[in-house]
Amino acid sequence: MKSIVSVPLPSNPYDVVVATAGIDHLGTWLAEGETALVKPGQKLLLVSNPAIFKQYGDRALTTLSKAGYSVETCLLPAGERYKTLTSIQKIYDAALGFRLERKSAMVALGGGVIGDMTGFAAATWLRGVSVVQVPTSLLAMVDASIGGKTGVNHPQGKNLIGAFHQPRLVMIDPSVLKTLPPREFRAGMAEVIKYGVIWDRDLFETLEAAPRLDHYRYLGDQLLHTILTRSCQAKAEVVSQDEKEAGLRAILNYGHTIGHAIESLMHYRGVNHGEAVAIGMVAAGHIATALDFWSEADAARQLALLEKTGLPTRLPAGLDFEAILTSLQGDKKVEEGQVQFVMPKGLGAAVVTGEVTRDAILAALEAMA
Ligand code: GLY
Repeated sequence: MKSIVSVPLPSNPYDVVVATAGIDHLGTWLAEGETALVKPGQKLLLVSNPAIFKQYGDRALTTLSKAGYSVETCLLPAGERYKTLTSIQKIYDAALGFRLERKSAMVALGGGVIGDMTGFAAATWLRGVSVVQVPTSLLAMVDASIGGKTGVNHPQGKNLIGAFHQPRLVMIDPSVLKTLPPREFRAGMAEVIKYGVIWDRDLFETLEAAPRLDHYRYLGDQLLHTILTRSCQAKAEVVSQDEKEAGLRAILNYGHTIGHAIESLMHYRGVNHGEAVAIGMVAAGHIATALDFWSEADAARQLALLEKTGLPTRLPAGLDFEAILTSLQGDKKVEEGQVQFVMPKGLGAAVVTGEVTRDAILAALEAMA
């Protein structure tokens, strides 16, 4: 199975390829004929982490060498806590040692952390070299690898340092999800459900019709392919209408406002990003019902889908509501003191509003305690 989703950005159009065994064809995709994205013979710096590289590194290196590239590898430790400028320095050191040139490229083989860091290093090395994203987690496949947001964390906050730098190609090989831990798979499904709620009602209903969504093995190849292509399509459509988040793109932050507050208050332990987003979506759903953005029935359908996926839908024990409200004020999305919330407008559409009151947020949190 193979699908191509275009991201038609005027200054930098690119494709997201969803293809079984895609990793084994990466070299051909990059090198192909007249349309060569990175000319064969060029140098590529492959950035990954040791566990992912052990599983998929050889396959990636084989296809890239066969296609005529000269490839060097830079391995970084796995995990969000290594998403720092120190790791970026290691990529720069490897790029320098390998004498990467302006026409060379970096290839990110890994999840969101590797993708964001490689993208940022590529955005800044020699004032910008090409980057190719080969995401290996569901979350990275449907979200982080597309749209050009790159960066690292500052000790005071997530993703505070970064740049927009669109990839030349995103290569998604669904079969790599087989080795993804089930909890990570469910975390990615939170973003998939998000696209159903804010953009693609059909996708939402396809997910509702699936008997089970809580583990990769229950989905089957066809449904997985549909989920990946529809999610990438949703992200591509939003990003191509608003690359730098001047307006529409902010709807992709659905569930992330309260979700980020929870992640940060829990110091990124005990709850992962997708789980926090799922909880944030339930909270936003309560608020949207109270403020008449959607119906109680819509909120109940969202809740049922998240529960079917095995995602948490209640607030983690012990979180202080006042601390959540204070943390919201520190969100990147605050504008003139007003927290910006994404509200679903029925199923399949969403708007951003600064009109959500403190009382509405508190009532949602109380309902979820
Ligand atoms: N993950 C949200 C965005 O790419 O805009």
